[in-house]
Amino acid sequence: MRSLRLPGLIDVHVHLRDPGATHKEDFSTGTAAALAGGVVAVLDMPNNTPPTVNGQRLSEKAQIASEKAHCDFGFYLGATEDNVGDGATLSHRVAGLKIYMGQTYGPLKMADLAALMAHFRNWPAATRPIAVHAGGPSTNSGQGLAMAGAIALARLYGKRLHICHVSRKAEIELIRKAKESWGAKADLKLTCEVTPHHLFLTQADVARLGNLAHVKPPLGTEEDRAALWDNLDIVDVIASDHAPHTIAEKEGPEPPPGVPGLETTLPLLLTAVADGRLSWERLIELTSENPARIFGLRQDERTYIEVDPNDRHVLDGSSLRTKCGWTPFEGMAVRGRVVRVYLRGTLVYTDGQVLAQPGFGRALF
Ligand code: NCD
Ligand code: ZN
Ligand code: ZN
Ligand code: ZN
Repeated sequence: MRSLRLPGLIDVHVHLRDPGATHKEDFSTGTAAALAGGVVAVLDMPNNTPPTVNGQRLSEKAQIASEKAHCDFGFYLGATEDNVGDGATLSHRVAGLKIYMGQTYGPLKMADLAALMAHFRNWPAATRPIAVHAGGPSTNSGQGLAMAGAIALARLYGKRLHICHVSRKAEIELIRKAKESWGAKADLKLTCEVTPHHLFLTQADVARLGNLAHVKPPLGTEEDRAALWDNLDIVDVIASDHAPHTIAEKEGPEPPPGVPGLETTLPLLLTAVADGRLSWERLIELTSENPARIFGLRQDERTYIEVDPNDRHVLDGSSLRTKCGWTPFEGMAVRGRVVRVYLRGTLVYTDGQVLAQPGFGRALF
């Protein structure tokens, strides 16, 4: 079997649910899933219960992760209307400041203009980005405009902006326009990510998947999906937005939004490479080089993965390591499999087995 060496993936958008909802996922299962997906470092979102919005909550999460994580990890600080000061003092301990400008899973929505301005004003420039959930259509909350607002605030206050899970044709066109108007100075000032579910699924899949396809931003039309592929040249990152919920929760009366993704991103992208829709070079930029540049992470020569690009298998939720045990990509035939993962020179995953102990993962910030 011919295997290929690639840099390990850095997934800049995951929800490992620890603390607060460890029945969905925890730092051990989530980071084992990461390694199985060829992901060597994860950046964990702050919409926990309780949310990660101050130094104490960051320390609590760091303690949990340092005991349980199989791969490297970092955290976002969540923005609230009351923690502008924390943003300024804690920036060196986090990947970035996360602002939920639209309603999603969890308590962290912040739409007050004065609070938004205060966060953009106070966030220390030049270090790490402000990451925003600001997309997707919504009838009553003006989310379509939130993204334009976030770009304007970043420009006015001279701060770096990273736009999470871009899902709509108009959004990616807005980002293209903004990058063009920023000109040569745009590098790292404005970055964006797309998810595999918005690249590979559409509203048409909802008939088949039911509530399992419920996600924020919602799956787009075929035109939206095509626009993401057509504009992939200005996309900086592919991130999973790994957002596990149990099957029972998804099939209950109020299904929470979110789909797991840590273990399916790479097989899907390797399939796109096999199909000639993505080059090896772009795959590496989108999943590893750009995440490292945007979040100021040093890439270690001894951290890499080996994939079998010729493998063919069918994605199957029950064989995944994520605690939630399902995937919206169930039944999809893919090309390519992760064979081995090395983290800082140590073999941590081989042929379906996680070898790294909980606690092997290190804090990135
Ligand atoms: C995420 C979650 O479940 O935490 N859900 C989702 O649908 N993407 C929250 C988020 O990323 O907005
Ligand atoms: Zn989001
Ligand atoms: Zn998310
Ligand atoms: Zn196989």
